[in-house]
Amino acid sequence: MTTAVYPGSFDPVTLGHLDLVERACRIFDRVVVAVSNNSSKKHTFSVAERIAMLENAVRAIPQAEVDTFSGLLVDYLKHQKATTVIRGLRAVSDLDYEFQMASMNRRLYPKVETVFLMPDEQYTYLSSSMVKEVARMGAPLDGIVAPFVARKLRLKFKTPVSR
Ligand code: PNS
Repeated sequence: MTTAVYPGSFDPVTLGHLDLVERACRIFDRVVVAVSNNSSKKHTFSVAERIAMLENAVRAIPQAEVDTFSGLLVDYLKHQKATTVIRGLRAVSDLDYEFQMASMNRRLYPKVETVFLMPDEQYTYLSSSMVKEVARMGAPLDGIVAPFVARKLRLKFKTPVSR
């Protein structure tokens, strides 16, 4: 049984994240989508809200499960008996940060391998922060987040859809 952990803030989950979960599930038997509960980082949605949106989003993917972790990712990997981390690479600009993170994780836990997956090219430009920016301005969110996530964003920012 191969297990991979896909960690992130998921604030909120986008269709780009879901594309990655689906790809990871084609490679690994079990994919744990792990929502970071890092109190030093300012998030728009609470951990409970981020988990609820993710659980709804991966409901149809049997190998995927959602969990949360705090502290070091490598400690969480040991807890899950996993040595593989999934991360998305959208563009070269992601590489610097991802390289640092993967190298630090490997230093802390030499057994760790980070597997980088590319999302479908329609999601290359997508990020949770950009989604929140357009949601705040009331722009349509079709094709970038799931409909229930779009509803949560509208409620959070109190923005009606402008078309
Ligand atoms: O979606 P994000 O915000 O890019 O995810 C970053 C995340 C949560 C994967 C990263 O910050 C993380 O692993 N945090 C846990 C703390 C940790 O292990 N730090 C050392 C390695 S960078």
